[in-house]
Amino acid sequence: MSYRVFVPRDSAALSVGAEGVARAIAGESSSRKLDVSVVRNGSRGMFWLEPLVEVETAQGRLAYGPVTRESVAGLFDAGFLEGKAHALCLGLTEAIPYLKQQERLTFARCGIVDPLSLDDYIAYGGYRGLQKALALEPQAIVDEVQKSGLRGRGGAGFPTGIKWSTVLYAKSDQKYICCNADEGDSGTYADRMIMEGDPFVLIEGMTIAGLAVGATQGYIYVRSEYPHAFRVLQRAIGIAYERGYLGADIAGSGKRFDLYARLGAGAYICGEETSMLESLEGRRGQIRPKPPLPAIEGLFGKPTVVNNLITLASVPIILDKGAEYYRDFGMGKSRGTLTIQLAGNIKHGGLVEKAFGISLRDAIYQFGGGTASGHPLRAVQVGGPLGAYFPESLLDTPLDYEAFAARKGMLGHGGVVVFDDTVDLAKQARFAMEFCAIESCGKCTPCRIGSTRGVEVIDRIITDENRARNLELLDDLCELMTDGSLCALGGLIPLPVQSAVRHFPEDFSKPAPPPLAVIDAAAAQKSNRETHPWR
Ligand SMILES: Cc1cc2nc3c(=O)[nH]c(=O)nc-3n(C[C@H](O)[C@H](O)[C@H](O)COP(=O)(O)O)c2cc1C
Ligand code: SF4
Repeated sequence: MSYRVFVPRDSAALSVGAEGVARAIAGESSSRKLDVSVVRNGSRGMFWLEPLVEVETAQGRLAYGPVTRESVAGLFDAGFLEGKAHALCLGLTEAIPYLKQQERLTFARCGIVDPLSLDDYIAYGGYRGLQKALALEPQAIVDEVQKSGLRGRGGAGFPTGIKWSTVLYAKSDQKYICCNADEGDSGTYADRMIMEGDPFVLIEGMTIAGLAVGATQGYIYVRSEYPHAFRVLQRAIGIAYERGYLGADIAGSGKRFDLYARLGAGAYICGEETSMLESLEGRRGQIRPKPPLPAIEGLFGKPTVVNNLITLASVPIILDKGAEYYRDFGMGKSRGTLTIQLAGNIKHGGLVEKAFGISLRDAIYQFGGGTASGHPLRAVQVGGPLGAYFPESLLDTPLDYEAFAARKGMLGHGGVVVFDDTVDLAKQARFAMEFCAIESCGKCTPCRIGSTRGVEVIDRIITDENRARNLELLDDLCELMTDGSLCALGGLIPLPVQSAVRHFPEDFSKPAPPPLAVIDAAAAQKSNRETHPWR
């Protein structure tokens, strides 16, 4: 009798001991002379259950978690390979409510397949989108993407079909597809999960994008903090070349597409598309003024599609199942699914793929189970460090680009960071300005100087120094940064700052903290010598 056991190799699972668990399962199998193959899959995205071990049974995969190295022998003793009862058994994986209630389109295979098995990928519906695309004219591929309503998942929600159409009609001897996998937003990890759990879906999506706009080369820009993802991606690219899905004759079509992965050097601004292009070309990541748009003059001055990883990874299912299938999910102008990433002070952190339109409250409570601390929720920041802080009263906002914009917020990359009632929003506002000051590329004055002055103004508000006047000044400064910044880092940082002031005014009117005690260095040294004479 042979068995298949799945132990994720996703970074989130590795960080809580998945490697040790996989070794313990292999060791226990060999000492008990059992024929067990351990498949290293991606994560299912239920982080509080990691390492989540799954066993293939006739009824489907059974989940056990969180499994520790120490619990492995007990699992074998209990007969987990036959799906027998054990305290860690969670039942059939697909029946776990957190997963069952999702609508996984982009993440359909993540956590199910072996990320480096092209056969697995194909067996689970992979490369069907490419086959369809190969039979279409470039314009028809672009039309399909446009009809699907797909909008960029990197932050701005720009219609992908329109961007592709611009590149398709740009005349050039060379065009490029660039995948933005810099994933700098706080609380986000969807890009990483795809790279580590289902890399071929990205490769397929980029290949289709290449066919659509006439680009024969693609680059994936991976943030430096993702070494595991980078390794998996490189191996997957190698396999796709070996099997004829990349290179001079993709899938026997006679059409060419080459793909390269590049590692960034670790700067939030390198996620902004023009900085990313600078970085890809080997320069310091700094903003390029727009126009020209990257679609006209992008990488190496050539027409370039820059899309977020999730945008590109959503393309294969659109081509495979058709634009109508995809656009049937969602609400208003937000079509398809959003990959919600629950983070911060949340009980059940993880990835939830759901049609646009689910409320923030349902995402946090129905899926996330509320705060991890058990304290009442006080604030939520959606959309990364440039996103607004929403209070409890805005939790019924549907996750939809327009609904968020109407409340002076933004969805960004779908990161949801939860805070309980111990959070101080004045400190968070200060943190936002300080983040901008640290990450500013320095190219324009409103952001470079404004963010540093912003920290000083917030400090004066916190210490109750001429508070009313400084609150006015902060408003003026935010207006200037919004209107005068060259890119959205300086232009959007007022969102978290002003939302904190608007929704949590009580945190900006607290009594000033006592001044820091002035330390008398000589006296401190003397007392130190008296208490620690050996020093
Ligand atoms: C400061 C800043 C950081 C950004 N970081 C990212 C990022 O990490 N990943 C990403 O895909 N887009 C990021 N963006 C958005 C990109 O500039 C660009 O709009 C996006 O990659 C386009 O792809 P999409 O149309 O698929 O969303 C950032 C933008 C700004 C202003
Ligand atoms: S807003 Fe900030 S990050 Fe953007 S160009 Fe200006 S200085 Fe650079």
